[in-house]
Amino acid sequence: MTTATFKKEDVLIEALPYIQQFEGKTFVIKYGGAVMEDENLKTMIAKDVTLLRKIGINVVVIHGGGKEITSLSNKLNIQTKFVNGQRYTDEETLNVVQMVLAGSINKDIVRRINIHGGRAVGISGIDGDMIKVKKYDKENLGLVGEVVDVNETLIKNLLKDGYLPVIAPMGIDNYGTVYNVNADIAAGSLAGAIDAAKLVYMSDTEGVIINGNLVPHLTEKQILDFIKNGIINGGMIPKVESALNALNAGVNKVHIVDGRIEHALLLEIFTEEGVGTEIVCE
Ligand SMILES: Nc1ncnc2c1ncn2[C@@H]1O[C@H](COP(=O)(O)OP(=O)(O)OP(=O)(O)O)[C@@H](O)[C@H]1O
Ligand SMILES: [Mg+2]
Repeated sequence: MTTATFKKEDVLIEALPYIQQFEGKTFVIKYGGAVMEDENLKTMIAKDVTLLRKIGINVVVIHGGGKEITSLSNKLNIQTKFVNGQRYTDEETLNVVQMVLAGSINKDIVRRINIHGGRAVGISGIDGDMIKVKKYDKENLGLVGEVVDVNETLIKNLLKDGYLPVIAPMGIDNYGTVYNVNADIAAGSLAGAIDAAKLVYMSDTEGVIINGNLVPHLTEKQILDFIKNGIINGGMIPKVESALNALNAGVNKVHIVDGRIEHALLLEIFTEEGVGTEIVCE
């Protein structure tokens, strides 16, 4: 849809049934890639999530921060090591992860949302014992955690009181050790635990691309086939796998949308056409 061909009032009226449908529902929105780098996009997405909150949708934001972690590590002369595309997290790196994810990035997102009155509160998965993990053991990635449980009480309380939780993807194990957690996986687990109606991944790809074309709808079977034959790979794998987990845990729909498109989130939620890829239960 090109909104420019619509009158403003038409655009608002088209949104009305969606506003009605989603009032009181919970959306989990994960930011990654370009949405976290570009000044203009960062401001825009902050306005978009505030608008969702203001019309009565419970919004939870989860963010990544890979590029800034690498950049601060470089400044501190801490070597960045990747194992099969995943960051190896030793103790020094974990300190940087915590400074960046639970510190600078988290507070920057909160600040941007609160300029517009969005009532954001920045916390990490460590707070409220929220994201419970154990050491990831399929390969040695150091202090990388695998989500085993989500304690949703704190988030639900914040939402009930009208706050907009902004969550840094870190977790804690039963012995009090802190871990770095993949943001996509944290988003999927959280969405399942709080019975979210929607989970939206905002990334710097149009959506899921198969043989050069954007695929508007995908089912579980298609996803498993595309992973098996390598058509879905790299950073797209944790998104689609955690999308399937979230759907199995009761989330209604998962969207992978292009965060580089202005107001992609609003277009996806409030227009008939939508943008990006929608993953649905069969
Ligand atoms: N079939 C596919 N369709 C689209 N993207 C794919 C596909 N297979 C692999 N990818 C890769 O997945 C990437 C998206 O994941 P990526 O981890 O880079 O983004 P992000 O999670 O938004 O960012 P970050 O991890 O930095 O927070 C795309 O840029 C693309 O390189
Ligand atoms: Mg990623």
